[in-house]
Amino acid sequence: MPEEKKQTDATPQLTRRNFLAWGGGALSILAIVEIAGASLLFLAPRSLEGEFGGVVTAGSVDNFPQGTVTEFPDGRFFLVRTEDGGFLALYRRCTHLGCAVSWEPTRNRFFCPCHASNFDFFGNVENPPAPRALDIFPVEINDGQVLVDTSRPQTRDAFAPEQLVYG
Ligand code: FES
Repeated sequence: MPEEKKQTDATPQLTRRNFLAWGGGALSILAIVEIAGASLLFLAPRSLEGEFGGVVTAGSVDNFPQGTVTEFPDGRFFLVRTEDGGFLALYRRCTHLGCAVSWEPTRNRFFCPCHASNFDFFGNVENPPAPRALDIFPVEINDGQVLVDTSRPQTRDAFAPEQLVYG
């Protein structure tokens, strides 16, 4: 008489259903871990020192000749040094709709490529549609270094001498 093969419950079998259930569970756990990790990275405080949103050390006062404009692309500003040695940090964001302005040294002006506004050396509007002067960032001179705080843009209607900072 042939021996009948019987399956007992004591020996677990990997069925297709079991495999799919375990695999699906493992993938779900992996997805949750990845999402949690990405969320923590996103929420973790990070220093913005030296880049836009933080305090940028522009360099020594002596690096900026009087009557010049120096662009800081990473900080999104232009550092203007006036003929009498004052400093002004102009936010490069156009006050019309926010395009980035560029400095045109041959024309001594800032120009917005989007709708052709332009601004003078101090950021005053020379040609609309921009409604007001370029915003400025606070400047501080510390130990002969020019520091620009790009976390606090300040709006203004026009340039005023009190906006200049001297070393
Ligand atoms: S965004 Fe600069 S002129 Fe419109």
